[in-house]
Amino acid sequence: MSMQEEVKREQEKLMDNATIFDILKMEHKDIKKLCRQIADSGRYQDNVFNDIKTAFAIHMAGEERYLYSRLENNAETRFLVLGAYEEHDLCRKIISDIDKSSDMDIKYAKAKVLGETIDMHVKVEEDNLFKRARHVLSDEDEREIARQFMAEKMQSLSGMAAEATSAPAM
Ligand SMILES: [Fe+2]
Ligand SMILES: [Fe+2]
Repeated sequence: MSMQEEVKREQEKLMDNATIFDILKMEHKDIKKLCRQIADSGRYQDNVFNDIKTAFAIHMAGEERYLYSRLENNAETRFLVLGAYEEHDLCRKIISDIDKSSDMDIKYAKAKVLGETIDMHVKVEEDNLFKRARHVLSDEDEREIARQFMAEKMQSLSGMAAEATSAPAM
């Protein structure tokens, strides 16, 4: 699924009053699918990796800014959130290592570990963090955070599109 199709589906969901958890779970599914695509193919694929990198960077930034920030000072969610920040940093480190390496076997090995790390992180979010977060946030909060998250995502994607068109031709 292209990034545009994905955004369209999420926006339709927003219209039916999605919570931030509905949106994040949809993104988890898409990102995990992309990771599996590399792992199953048996080789590194730059285009798939770039899709993961873009989608997951926006996903993590949005979670941190609009969701984690609301949960990190609540005793019920604090340690799960602090752990989740660490897992995000770990993913960013692996992503930057993949970018830096020019050895295709190393890139493939690291991309597989990135997929496993994302699987683990997403499982903790869905099974533990989101469940507890539901006690901390009101229904209205959950819908408001979804709208903020999507507005930011749209802005990041249009910023990237503008950058791509203004980049000098190679
Ligand atoms: Fe996350
Ligand atoms: Fe997530």
